[in-house]
Amino acid sequence: MNYRVPRTRKEIFETLIKGLQRLEYRGYDSAGVAIDGNNHEVKERHIQLVKKRGKVKALDEELYKQDSMDLKVEFETHFGIAHTRWATHGVPSAVNSHPQRSDKGNEFVVIHNGIITNYKDLRKFLESKGYEFESETDTETIAKLIKYVFDNRETEDITFSTLVERVIQQLEGAFALVFKSIHYPGEAVATRRGSPLLIGVRSKYKLSTEQIPILYRTCTLENVKNICKTRMKRLDSSACLHAVGDKAVEFFFASDASAIIEHTNRVIFLEDDDIAAVADGKLSIHRVKRSASDDPSRAIQTLQMELQQIMKGNFSAFMQKEIFEQPESVFNTMRGRVNFETNTVLLGGLKDHLKEIRRCRRLIVIGCGTSYHAAVATRQVLEELTELPVMVELASDFLDRNTPVFRDDVCFFISQSGETADTLLALRYCKDRRALTVGVTNTVGSSISRETDCGVHINAGPEIGVASTKAYTSQFISLVMFGLMMSEDRISLQNRRQEIIRGLRSLPELIKEVLSLDEKIHDLALELYTQRSLLVMGRGYNYATCLEGALKIKEITYMHSEGILAGELKHGPLALIDKQMPVIMVIMKDPCFAKCQNALQQVTARQGRPIILCSKDDTESSKFAYKTIELPHTVDCLQGILSVIPLQLLSFHLAVLRGYDVDFPRNLAKSVTVE
Ligand code: G6P
Repeated sequence: MNYRVPRTRKEIFETLIKGLQRLEYRGYDSAGVAIDGNNHEVKERHIQLVKKRGKVKALDEELYKQDSMDLKVEFETHFGIAHTRWATHGVPSAVNSHPQRSDKGNEFVVIHNGIITNYKDLRKFLESKGYEFESETDTETIAKLIKYVFDNRETEDITFSTLVERVIQQLEGAFALVFKSIHYPGEAVATRRGSPLLIGVRSKYKLSTEQIPILYRTCTLENVKNICKTRMKRLDSSACLHAVGDKAVEFFFASDASAIIEHTNRVIFLEDDDIAAVADGKLSIHRVKRSASDDPSRAIQTLQMELQQIMKGNFSAFMQKEIFEQPESVFNTMRGRVNFETNTVLLGGLKDHLKEIRRCRRLIVIGCGTSYHAAVATRQVLEELTELPVMVELASDFLDRNTPVFRDDVCFFISQSGETADTLLALRYCKDRRALTVGVTNTVGSSISRETDCGVHINAGPEIGVASTKAYTSQFISLVMFGLMMSEDRISLQNRRQEIIRGLRSLPELIKEVLSLDEKIHDLALELYTQRSLLVMGRGYNYATCLEGALKIKEITYMHSEGILAGELKHGPLALIDKQMPVIMVIMKDPCFAKCQNALQQVTARQGRPIILCSKDDTESSKFAYKTIELPHTVDCLQGILSVIPLQLLSFHLAVLRGYDVDFPRNLAKSVTVE
């Protein structure tokens, strides 16, 4: 939203479209915008909706086809909204995409991330009141509901934010919502529960405050009238944010900082049930109940993220860029934390809780997808270094099982985005049971980083490719660092600790060496890309590599792929092996080496033709290999960081050769903020 910053309609389009493009990586299937059809200062107000199935580019083209849109019209104050939709309820189509509207006159329009779980009841109620629905979405009920509240208002001067407050009291599920209305021209209201939402602030002028105090109020039907007239209409300057002297200011609402970082790095992260409203260039935040954090204000934070970090540079895809960034991202994860001289590790975000963690009865490490694999990859070394039982859990399954959790448990939540709904719900589940909660995320200000008691930021830099790569290796290292920090006083573990710390030091160089195999891996992809299936087999420290490698292949090449625990081979998967079935075996010089040789024999005895990822100095395995990819050797428990990279590269090349869009795999989203 721009306030006293004259912008042409063309500039407004460009800002909205660019914002959507920056978020394309999150995955979506349709897109839409709502802007003012006429200058809102003229009497006849009108909201223009443009929606399209498919890519943002298609929407962009569509915008310029609209005859009614004079691109040169200038708005001194304007609020536009735009959205990319990842279908949950209803197929991808223009009518199901957002913004959703209250009626054919577009009196209220809304965009929504999340899921409304009680939408059927709401829809039934609204239909019984004569509201006609046009889409199959849960979101449309919100648009209709706000109109219902408006139509039934008991006072003419009810504020926009009061309407929204009443609406969200009826909603169950998860949401980040932004509303626009012809009844409140030039005003914006946004709110969230369970889905991320932040507000960027840009002004050339000094801002009235760096901390926005929260207005608390109880909205009962009786006092609405008073509140509207007093508090929300005449905001005192301590309760809102604006440019000093009523100067020009722009506000950007977004679910992710990458959408707005080119405009401003000054942001406010909203908390669940915050209702943020902008009217007359003033941003205020209010809520009905005290917030979970009990923080009476929301601070403006300055993000370190650079636009450069979310650009592809010379790479053909974000995923490729992120794979090649790993020597640096891994270094950044360790920077300032691992002291290679004194062999010590200090994770600042955990140090105050270390005593408590050391006293716990077990560690539970929870995540989804790749983040879960990082937990699997480090389980053994965590057990070794902490001497505690370690459970690794898929968040959804952990919740399905109502897993017993106790106050002397320590629960880790691994999440690149920090917003994955399943992981977030598991976090709340553990908090309810009074366990100590630890976040391991890549996103400052994310829900998981805010809601956990303490945590580690993995510092890998923004990850845009839907298929996670650099976040995995940084999560891996973060968990290893935690193990090292826990074992600092254990005399019996000192040699092992030193070995691991030395291993960490050489990792960036060794990763570069692995990346130099890219061409060889490309050649391998040329041989494999027409196959329908690809098995990845290994055990011990490298089992997680197999799971993660197979996930990468599935995600972006759409080939069937399975990560198989080599120890389970003879209990089933061996039946899949024949001359045709491509099998990748991960065999490293570690305590499982001999057992992996057995698996190799079992595969070759069935005419299987294994492609082996092995250590450079391994002459034994290569004798039986159809092909080998030789990797530098590191400490056993860190080897998984090196062995996963060839599989990341392989999946990338396979996807390109198969003609798929690497960064936008079908049906997948980067941040899955729905259960
Ligand atoms: C989605 C993404 C995966 C990711 C998983 C967990 O499924 O497509 O790449 O691993 O979510 O995401 P998180 O942000 O919690 O690590």
